[in-house]
Amino acid sequence: MEGIRERLIVALDVDEASRACRLAECLAPWVGMFKVGMQLFYGQGPAVVEALRRTGARVFLDLKLHDIPRTVAGASRVLARLGVSMFNVHAAGGAEMMRAAAEAAREEAAAMGLPPPLVLAVTVLTSIDQEAFARELGFGGRISEKVVAWALLARECGLDGVVASAREAAAIRQSCGPDFLIVTPGIRPAGAPAGDQKRVATPAEALKAGATHLVVGRPVTEAADPVEAVKGLLAEIKDSWG
Ligand code: C5P
Repeated sequence: MEGIRERLIVALDVDEASRACRLAECLAPWVGMFKVGMQLFYGQGPAVVEALRRTGARVFLDLKLHDIPRTVAGASRVLARLGVSMFNVHAAGGAEMMRAAAEAAREEAAAMGLPPPLVLAVTVLTSIDQEAFARELGFGGRISEKVVAWALLARECGLDGVVASAREAAAIRQSCGPDFLIVTPGIRPAGAPAGDQKRVATPAEALKAGATHLVVGRPVTEAADPVEAVKGLLAEIKDSWG
């Protein structure tokens, strides 16, 4: 499979910027993008994104923005100025909010002479089960229907794709067409421990279901040798894709 490196995103769920940068530097030849989440960002601030960018890394900033459109647009401008390659917002924030995020990010990137960041929607969090969806949140219908409906809304609002579990990827791909990005966490190499992830897929299963990007955290960052772990993942993908 061509371009598999570009499809691999390693989640840098660590506390220290120095450790994040060391990981990014040693994994750079095999990994397309590095995900900075709330743990690293809230501890280290925008400086960690700048430090990662200085190593040459492309950054997916996973802060799941969710507020009124004007506030999210303002935050999206800041993230675009930071030079992130990808960031996300909650689809539950509504169409106006998603549109505002995408437009603000593109405008700001253009003004800075930077490539526009890819903007993704988070649909229904994978930690929400059908019971919580109906009883706590008061939604009717199935979670999978809402995921597809919100993915379609995100596409209409000009977003580039969604973050979704590999189990939802096929339905999203079918509804949203071939160009829509589907970024899937919960990826485990065959035989690796799932940790706290309840619904995991192997890289090959996720790609077969229509995922465009795979997010892998602990199987790489907690491996005795992260470089070997990434090479193993790539070999597994090559074996199953020929
Ligand atoms: O270590 P692991 O491979 O489980 O890391 C997965 C990453 O993807 C974590 O940073 C986690 O916060 C994120 N994520 C997830 N499930 C979602 C959305 C994001 O696991 N639905």
